[in-house]
Amino acid sequence: MIDDLWYKNAVIYSLDVGTFMDSNGDGCGDFEGLSRRLEYLAALGVTCIWLQPFQPSPNLDNGYDISDYYGVDRRHGSAGDFVDFSHQAKQRGIKVIIDLVVNHTSDQHPWFQSACQDPNARYHDWYVWAKKRPKDYLKGMVFPGVQKATWTYNKASRHWYFHRFYDFQPDLNIANLEVRTEIQRIMGYWLELGVSGFRVDAVPFIIETQEPGKTHRRQFQYLTEMRSFLQWREGDAILLGEANVLPKENIDYFGEEGDRMHMMFNFYVNQYLFYALASGDARPLARALKATEKIPVFAQWGTFLRNHDEVDLGRLTKEERQIVYDKFGPDPGMQLYGRGIRRRLAPMIGDQRHLEFAYSMLFSLPGTPVLRYGDEIGMGDDLSLNERDAVRTPMQWSDEPQAGFSTSKKIVHPVIKDGVWSYERINVAAQRRDPNSLLNWTVSMIRMRKECPEIGWGNFEVLNTRNPCVLGLRFDWRNNSIVTLHNFSEKPQDVVVAIQGERGGTMVNLLVNDTSTAFSQTRHRIILEGHGYRWYRVGGLDYVLRREKY
Ligand code: NOJ
Repeated sequence: MIDDLWYKNAVIYSLDVGTFMDSNGDGCGDFEGLSRRLEYLAALGVTCIWLQPFQPSPNLDNGYDISDYYGVDRRHGSAGDFVDFSHQAKQRGIKVIIDLVVNHTSDQHPWFQSACQDPNARYHDWYVWAKKRPKDYLKGMVFPGVQKATWTYNKASRHWYFHRFYDFQPDLNIANLEVRTEIQRIMGYWLELGVSGFRVDAVPFIIETQEPGKTHRRQFQYLTEMRSFLQWREGDAILLGEANVLPKENIDYFGEEGDRMHMMFNFYVNQYLFYALASGDARPLARALKATEKIPVFAQWGTFLRNHDEVDLGRLTKEERQIVYDKFGPDPGMQLYGRGIRRRLAPMIGDQRHLEFAYSMLFSLPGTPVLRYGDEIGMGDDLSLNERDAVRTPMQWSDEPQAGFSTSKKIVHPVIKDGVWSYERINVAAQRRDPNSLLNWTVSMIRMRKECPEIGWGNFEVLNTRNPCVLGLRFDWRNNSIVTLHNFSEKPQDVVVAIQGERGGTMVNLLVNDTSTAFSQTRHRIILEGHGYRWYRVGGLDYVLRREKY
């Protein structure tokens, strides 16, 4: 049955173990703390947790510099604590996916240490080397302005090594069969410990060949190999790829036969969503949705507003990007790498009403929504921290010291203490008791989203609202339909939408007690307040009663 594919209609929540909950008072979040918060996540309605890297690491890039793939960094507890957590998550029906960071290792990884000794060393060929400095050593930096080069000289081996990211993250040589076998071993290991799949870091770079002086090629076949291995080991485990690519390239990553990535983050739609929020014009977002519409039947988009990195606006035109900068990141200190904004959602968007609008839009995008910890309570950022650390401050649980995150005086990143985003004002404990809080709004939205399986499973259509500010979407699945409308303008808008089909004459509002009746056979007139949104079920309220199987 197609509806056995859990990832088609999930709610994914991403978090860093280190900033979520510290149980032993050492100032760093750990698995035991996370386990204690599983009730909170279950009550929020999350169905899958995506854990950012927690393996042993010098931690120079938030754990994305791994020095041992087969363990848990001591700061976060033990392997036993991980297994206990994964078991408890399973008990609550929550799946766990983890980052698979295999484009590169830390330069402290024993493989790289060995590789550097000399060109004949055991692990030398596990990395990418050049005898002479490659001509393009200053090209292709992912972190321009911070990263100095993509090739760095290693004195001991008297060779240059390639690193797509920082110089302490040497790229693994995927062309080497031994490396590919080791990656399978890593995947197999974590699958045995209970994970349901991987968020695959930096996919386009993993599969890119790096032979100095030669053109780079992408070896997509490797993704098929990765997928086959995964599926043999665990039938319902998934790969969620991080690949910020153009719409025409998507199919190479999903695979024509749907035999590569199960899911990919829809970075393209994310950028046009920010553009729509900044400009009030929903048309480019509608175009982005259409451009990314065609994906294999078993594939799914991961949709999101914010993640643990900067808002990457690299796919927008210069003019479009400027509009987003002007609205959401006007100070140079808010911008990063010449392409993005290093802020949390709440400080960019403003008040709760606007945040709810943005989240309502996210939940009604075709795909599976991916939330970032703390966004459900509207947490802020700390721009005094380095680069992307601005959006990685500890979870604000209560108004107790250190936001209830830790009892230690010294913690992994400082909590937000001052101003409107301080933990004394914004925290879970306070919002839990306030029926009008963003937290409680998010809980009801997640419940409603789950009750609208048409969005995850169905086909969608962009409705003609004849209004540039209003995005109308219709989702159809098994003879049930959902219609959503979002007004990106601050001013009220009057729209007319045609809802085809025999039940199109009536639409029931899923959020408040109200029904829209067509004024002609299929045409509905709806007046949306500024930044207003509507969710309707076509025909009747309860899809379960009407559900028709095919
Ligand atoms: C993408 C991750 O999202 C980012 O945080 C990290 O710095 C790079 N990959 C390198 O692993």
